[in-house]
Parts: sequence; C-alpha cells; structure tokens
Amino acid sequence: MTSAVGEDAATRSALDALGPLLRPELSDLTAYVPHDPPGIRVKLDANEAPPARSPAIAECVARAIASTRMERYPDPRADRLREAIAKRTGARPVDLLLGTGSDEVISLVVNALARPRERAPQAVILSPTPTFVMYRITARAHGQKPVEVPLDASWDLDVATTRRAIEMMAPNVVFLATPNNPTGNRMSEDRVAAVIANASSSFVVLDEAYVDFAGASLRTMREGNPHVGVLRTLSKVGLAALRVGWLEADEALVREIDKARQPFNVSATSQMAAAAVLEDAWDALQAEVERVVGARDELAAALSGLDGFTVTPSAANFLWVRTPGAAEAVFDHLVADGILVRSFHKSGGRMASQLRITIGTSDAHEQLVASLARFEGGSR
Ligand SMILES: Cc1ncc(COP(=O)(O)O)c(C=O)c1O
Repeated sequence: MTSAVGEDAATRSALDALGPLLRPELSDLTAYVPHDPPGIRVKLDANEAPPARSPAIAECVARAIASTRMERYPDPRADRLREAIAKRTGARPVDLLLGTGSDEVISLVVNALARPRERAPQAVILSPTPTFVMYRITARAHGQKPVEVPLDASWDLDVATTRRAIEMMAPNVVFLATPNNPTGNRMSEDRVAAVIANASSSFVVLDEAYVDFAGASLRTMREGNPHVGVLRTLSKVGLAALRVGWLEADEALVREIDKARQPFNVSATSQMAAAAVLEDAWDALQAEVERVVGARDELAAALSGLDGFTVTPSAANFLWVRTPGAAEAVFDHLVADGILVRSFHKSGGRMASQLRITIGTSDAHEQLVASLARFEGGSR
C-alpha cells in the first residue's frame, strides 16, 4: 500500500498543482547556467579580474572576515560600508542603497518602480541593445515589459530612436551601461545627457559597473537631475566573491526602494571585508585596476594586429572583438585550445561575428594570441 502511494508520489511533480500559479513569464526564461566546457585552462569569459598580484587585498579581506561576529546578524543599514563607499566615490551615505551585487540592486529598482502608467498593462523597462542581459531578464521576471533600442553602428546610443521609444513607451526605468557590456565602449556624454533630458519622468540608471577602468564617472550628471541614479559594483575590481554593489540616487527615492530590501541582504563578512578593502587596501586595489588597463591596451594592440580581427576601443576590463567570419568557429577553436571567451554568435545579425574577451594575466594573453594566430593560419 505504501509503495503504491510512494510510486504515485514519485511520478507527480509539484508543478501539476502549482504550475498554473507561476508567473507566465517564467516559461520563457531559463535559469543562469555558466558555460563550462571541459578542459578549460584559460578563463576569459566572465569579466572577472585576474588574480591580484599584491597580497595586500587578500590579507585585508582575511583579517576582516576573521574578526566578523558569526553569531550576529549583519548591520541591516551597512553603515560602515556605506561610509567607506561614500568616502571613495564622493557620494553621500544617505544616497546609497546596497545590494548583493549590483544584480540585486537592479532587481530592487525594477521591483520598486513597478506600477504601470495609466492605461498601460505593464511597467516598461527600456535599455539599449546589445547590453547587460539582466535588465531584460529582471524586467521579465517581474512581469514587466522590456523594450530595447539598438545601439548605432559604432555601438553608441542612438538618441533619436531612444527619444521616440521613450515618448511612445513611457518607460518607468531606463538602464544605460557606460562603459557598456558587452561592447566595452563608453556612451558619448552628450548622448547620455540627451537621453537624460528626454526621460525626465523615468528613472535613468547609469550603470557604471566598469567605470574603474574608464577614468571618469558620469555621476555629476545627477546634479540637477533627481531622476538619475548611478549603479556601481566591486565585482569587476577583484572582489566578485563578496557580491557588493550599490545605487547612488536621490535620497527620497532610495528611502522608498529600501523599504522592499531584505534587511540583511549584504552578509556581515561581505560588509566587513569590502569596508576594510575600501578603507585600508585602496591603493593596492587601484594598482590592480591600472595593471588591467595596461594589459587591456596591450592585448587590444596585439589582437588588432591579427589579420581580420577588429577591436572596439575599450574603456572596460574586456575587449569587444570582431572576428573574421563567424565567431562560433573562432570560439570553438579557442575552446579546443583550452581557452574560454564569450561568443555572441547565437544572437545573430551584427553580433554573429563578435567575441567578448576578458582581460586576464599576461600568460593567458600569450596563449590567447598564439591560439588566434593559429586560427588565422588555419583559415587560409
Ligand atoms: C553592466 C553590468 N552591470 C551590472 C553587473 C552585475 O554585477 P554584480 O552583480 O556582480 O555587481 C554586470 C556584471 O557583469 C554588468 O556587466
């Protein structure tokens, strides 16, 4: 008797009863699965930093974690970390909203600014394309409507089309990544300013995840524009494991979005470690960033020297590389050599011959360039 019930239960799925209750959008989405082919020795696909040369950062993190009270909940306001971020960026602590990576902050923003406009069935989230996929995925997962406006031929903002989209769709939120992922370039400042001026009743988020490699931040564009926020992260500068990101925005808006935040969203170890690095290992962190910038420019020159490869000028910690012919063939060739980069061939169109290559160690770059040179030879 028990076995009959057991068998019955074994063939039943929770989705038999609960499937109809799930958000319909989930059927179109797939969970994030990292592309992880076997035999990879050189990993240049995820826009992470190469291992730090100086031990100062790891030592600082280790000391901070060792002194964290494990029996206590984290500080729900993350006061020390907010102070440390404020000091290093020029922000005011009250303008900061912290998250488990900027991914969570994107989700908090989309979740809070979710009310559809009058007579609109859904809130609209607008972004250029190609750009960081989480804007679209987060919008869909929250039952909102993502709208994407193509970047122009040099991967810069198309102001006229963006203006029309803003007028027609009245987005609740506009996400602009600058430098942009995956294209690596900064958006022209006058174009960003034009979009900000055209979107005065939307929340415009300037996503500066890669600004550490770009030289200058656009955060001064917040002045006189309370509808503009700036998103940042520590993930790209060697602290991806900590999952710390933040929004700098108008204090009153931050207070509203903060109401939907889980009180202990940033772990105590992450708060302690991130604050300690910002306070005590800042110079070491900047030295690592400079090293990546130098390596980026060298790799860009080396790849541009290969027949048929074109590199978009990068202000980030990765390169956007046009391949001779289909990117898929180059990608497969690299994987066969144990090198993983990110290919966009599945997106088709002008993306079909584009690779995104993260800046790594000089040894990784040597292997990459040697492998690509062999591909070049093999393609004749
Ligand atoms: C443009 C952009 N924004 C935000 C993120 C998310 O970063 P994290 O959640 O690690 O802070 C990324 C990560 O790749 C990104 O490319």
